[in-house]
Parts: sequence; structure tokens; C-alpha cells
Amino acid sequence: MSKPRDYSAIIIKPQALSPLILSQKKLTDFSGGCHIRFLTTEAVSAISKNLKKSDTDPFSEAIKQKAFTGKPDKSVMLYGTSPAESLFLVGLDEEKKLSSALIRKVSANAVRRAMDLKKEDVFVDTINKAAGATSDLSEEEIVSSMIEGLLLGSYRFTRYSSEAKKIKPPKLTLCGLKKNHEKILQEKRVLCESVCLTRDLVNENADCITPKALAEEAKNISKKYGLKINVLDEKELRRKKMGLITAVGQGAQNPPCLIVMQYLHGGKNKKTLAIVGKGITFDSGGLNLKTSGHIEDMRQDMAGAAAVLGAMRAIAGLGLSVNVIGVMACAENAIGSGAYKPGDIFTAYNGKTVEIGNTDAEGRLVLADALSYVEENYKPDYTIDLATLTGAVIVALGTHYAGLMSKEEEFQKLVSAASEQTDEKIWPLPLTEPFMDEMKSDIADLKNTGKNRNAGTIQGAVFLSHFVKKTKWAHLDIAGTAWCSSEASGITSKYATGFGVRLLTALCQKI
Ligand code: BES
Ligand code: ZN
Ligand code: ZN
Repeated sequence: MSKPRDYSAIIIKPQALSPLILSQKKLTDFSGGCHIRFLTTEAVSAISKNLKKSDTDPFSEAIKQKAFTGKPDKSVMLYGTSPAESLFLVGLDEEKKLSSALIRKVSANAVRRAMDLKKEDVFVDTINKAAGATSDLSEEEIVSSMIEGLLLGSYRFTRYSSEAKKIKPPKLTLCGLKKNHEKILQEKRVLCESVCLTRDLVNENADCITPKALAEEAKNISKKYGLKINVLDEKELRRKKMGLITAVGQGAQNPPCLIVMQYLHGGKNKKTLAIVGKGITFDSGGLNLKTSGHIEDMRQDMAGAAAVLGAMRAIAGLGLSVNVIGVMACAENAIGSGAYKPGDIFTAYNGKTVEIGNTDAEGRLVLADALSYVEENYKPDYTIDLATLTGAVIVALGTHYAGLMSKEEEFQKLVSAASEQTDEKIWPLPLTEPFMDEMKSDIADLKNTGKNRNAGTIQGAVFLSHFVKKTKWAHLDIAGTAWCSSEASGITSKYATGFGVRLLTALCQKI
């Protein structure tokens, strides 16, 4: 048997975000590179009315010939323009549709298009009155959303592509600003770096991102940002009788661990939120082995834990006045002679016994121990877990929405408000009486699979509900949203999306 890998040999160096400069100069004061201009349909109409016959430059021609109308599906790239080498005109649609989410989306899409041209310099005009933004959005909100869109949109995971690695991230300049918005830029940089750290961790090889590697990364971040951290290794997990997380991890060369980070800067009057993430660094399915077509992307199965880590970095980096406990339940669900077996029964941290119906339903097991451990030892008022828990959530909601399950109406509202703010979409599924008996076992207290395949996502939540008592709890199934197999779109990057980091950062400020 080969030895477990030594994490110290692997350096997780987050990929650099594109440099971004804010400028009060006009777009046309910059020459060369790619210029990006956003215009609403109303702004295009107004420009169109003032055009003269003698206006024959590419921009005027595009408007005259209605190649560009301000409609979002009519964005055009013009070449050989002056003072830019190319000018990308992006439709914002009607002014009344303008929102922070739309601005983030068009900014991300535009920067990605400019990067395809391999330009070193990308100059972006701000969205202001001239662009058709006369609505309620303040300059701060517009600039915030543009920065977020540009930074998140310019992310690419290039580490393993010789071709992609050659292309440097472009230098971005956001022009035409009335005021200095350096503080917004600094804050958004912290937030977007944190999202991209999560993306990097999820994208990176499962062979590299082991439970120990996540613990090392969490320790690095804790040291840098002054967080308190406690890592329970396998021995400690066994000593504390966390029989479910150790069962899941027992077949792997890379042992499991539970990582607990504390950021308590909200004072006594503020409630405490625990954020708990599923950290299965690779989900082979265990002895109920996954088949081709289902196993290839399973390094993403620690996306919940990576989102927790990203959020803790953002929260601490922004110095928010909140009380947050970050918990990452990490294990590798491996196949081998040591692997846990279907039919066996294990005892959870809270004393409940669990029959293993399927070793591929491992996420709920590691989370069960994490949830009861954090509740008993840290007494959070609220707890939310993020987990790539079920394939069924993709069947139910596709890849745009995560499933939200909670019995706490008030808390559910706060989570929904955070989700609306960040445009990380979630949709509620019922966690109500008719489902509550689903996970009973004939031979033990609980079984990790239901009696049939109906409402598989809710079954997962029902199982987890047996491991929380007083804390107000919500569960987010992010199996559809943590990973994007199709092309990037808006702020959703290809492969790891970083889903949840911004949502969690927004949520803790609402508690
Ligand atoms: N990690 C998977 C869920 C998943 C599927 C995540 C697709 C991301 C994309 C999870 O551990 C799993 O395998 N769940 C099983 C549960 C079943 C055995 C009850 C599933 O969804 O099939
Ligand atoms: Zn699984
Ligand atoms: Zn899994």
C-alpha cells in the first residue's frame, strides 16, 4: 500500500484575480485594448435620434443599421474602432429592468468576451445616466455590482491547461466614475477572492484537496485573519464517538477530520450562526460504487465545506460585526477493503444508531455528526448547512436553483433575503409532517436511505433533521449549483461556481 500523500508538498496558491483600477477619466480618454460600453434601449434610441448623416464611425453605423439596439441579445463587438482597438457594445435592455443582478451578469459576460479577444487591457465604461441608468440604483450600488461582475467573470481555472495558462488575466479599468470608490473595490476584492478561493479548492484535484489539505488551508486562513480554529483528527473523532464521519472515512488512505473555525466579533447582543459544509473530498460512492457518468465530477463533493471556508475568509477579511462558527465535515468516500459496508450499523455522536442502506448516501452521515457536535458544543442560535447532497435536487430544480429546506419560517425568510441580494438562487422544498417518518430503520434508529426514491432531496433533509435539536436550522442542497458543466454564464463560472460564499456572507449580517 502506498503512503498517504504529504500535503506540505502541495501548494494551493489561489489564482490571481484580474487587476482592477477605478478611474474618474472618461472611457474615450483611454486608447488601445478593448472598450466596453453598456447601453439601455432608451439610451440607444436617444443616441440614434442625434446621429447625423456624416456620422459614419463603426459605433454610429451599428446604431443606424440597428445591429445594436440595446436589447441584451443584440450585443456587438466592433473592430478597428478608435481610440479602442475594439469596442464591445452591450445591451442592458429597458431601463426599468436594470438591477444589481443584471449589472453583475452583463459585466461578467462582457469581461469574458473581452478576454476571448486576448486583450491585455480592458476599459469598461460605468453604467450611468448616459448609459440609460436613471432609476433608483445609486452610483455605489452600480459600481459594487460592476466590480463584482468583472472580478467574478474574469475567473478561469487555468492551472492544468498549457494554452490557457499562457493568457494573462487582463488589466481591467472601470472608467467614468464620479467619485472615488476605493473602499467598495477593497471590499469586493476580499469577497471575490474568497469566492475564487472556493472555486480553486473545488476545481483542484481530489488527490490534492484531501481532508488534511482542507484543514491546512483553514489553518492558513485562520492565522492570516485571526480566527480561532480547532481541527479534530480521526483519533479525536473516534474518541468523541463521532461514529458516522469515521465510518465514511474509514476506507480511505486520507483520514477524515472535522474543522471548526470561530469568528466571534458581534458582541453578546448578536446571535450566533453556525455554517456547516459537506466536505467529501472525493465521492466514489464507496462499496455502492458510482458508475461512469456519475463519478467523474465527484471532486466537487466538498463544495459545501469550501463555501464555508470561503465565507469565513470573506467575513473575517471584511471585519464584519457578527458571530459565526464555520464547520467543515471532511472525509473521502473511498472504495477498498477498509470501506464501510452496506447493512452495517454505526452510532452517531448524538447516540442515534444508523443503518447504512447505501454507502453513497455518505454526505448526510458526515453532516449528522457535524450538526450535533456544533450544536452541543457551540450552542449556535441558527445553523445552516450547505451540501452537494443529492442528485435528486438536480432532477427537481436543475442547475440554477439550490434546494432550501427548513422548518423555521423566520430563518427561511432571512436565507431567502440573502439569496435575493446575491442572486444565488434557492427554492424552498417542504420539510413537513408527511415526510418525517421516511428515514426509519427496522433494525436501528435511522437508515441513511429512504424506502423508495421519492423526494430524494427531502429524504436527505429529513435524515439531517434528526441531528438538530434547539438551533434554528436550514439545509441547502447545492448539488446542482456548485458545479457548472456547461459554458460559463454571468457570474457562474465553468466547473466550480463558488456558490454559497456570497450568500453566507450576506446571511450572517441579517442574523
Ligand atoms: N455527492 C452525491 C450527490 C451529488 C450528485 C452531488 C450529483 C453532485 C452531483 C451524494 O453523496 C450521493 O451520491 N447521493 C445519492 C443518495 C442516494 C444513494 C440516496 C444520490 O443522489 O443518488
Ligand atoms: Zn454519495
Ligand atoms: Zn456525496
